Amino acid sequence: MKGIILAGGLGTRLYPLTHITNKHLLPVYNQPMIYYPIQTLVEAGINEIMIVTGGPYAGHFLRVLKNGHELGVKHLEYAFQEKEGGIAEALSLCEDFADKQNIVVILGDNCTDANIRPAVQKFKIGSMIFVKLVPDPHRFGVPVFNKKEQIIKIEEKPKDPKSSFAVTGLYIYDKTVFDKIKKVKPSGRGELEITDVNNLYISAGKMKWAELKGFWSDAGTFESLYRTGKFWAEKNE
Ligand code: G1P
Repeated sequence: MKGIILAGGLGTRLYPLTHITNKHLLPVYNQPMIYYPIQTLVEAGINEIMIVTGGPYAGHFLRVLKNGHELGVKHLEYAFQEKEGGIAEALSLCEDFADKQNIVVILGDNCTDANIRPAVQKFKIGSMIFVKLVPDPHRFGVPVFNKKEQIIKIEEKPKDPKSSFAVTGLYIYDKTVFDKIKKVKPSGRGELEITDVNNLYISAGKMKWAELKGFWSDAGTFESLYRTGKFWAEKNE
């Protein structure tokens, strides 16, 4: 399986920090933020990775990651996203790289110590998402469950969340993901939403889910950046 890390965007929620570099290169304790998703993929046995980035500091990635070998990546590729077209648009740039294989996708600001290797090894077809109980689900994609604990849809940043779970930015997809992205229309904020892609898998009955074991946080706001750094600092004590 191949891995994809989505690390574009302007990181406006972290201004003024992101006036100087890309959000995903900011420090999270003793490492640049993007090291964490890379380590998650490498620990899962994935060593062919594409990073999608964009914005004025895209070149900084090469300086930090070079060819990825120091981090255990055998083959590292980069793609450049020209506009702020959303997560699903960023993913669409990886169709050739994926080459009809199954892919693990992780958002570049998602930091976790969970081991997804068993899920990656078991995965055959369809899609899989990982959810996590959070105190502030309205900040995330939120799964809506039926009585059989099946996810019947995902609502993106709902005012009135129907569960206390966040859909984390960690997804496994089969090759049909690229056709699904082509069917999705821009949302109210003018972006192709990954949640709309996931909802297409759900309506086709092709979505599995699991609760992520261990620590998980995004690091795209001051509060979550601080919390994530604190977690890794304490873990490394
Ligand atoms: C994105 C997704 C959201 C998901 C989150 C996880 O939101 O749209 O569904 O829960 O990542 O980090 P963003 O934080 O990019 O607005």
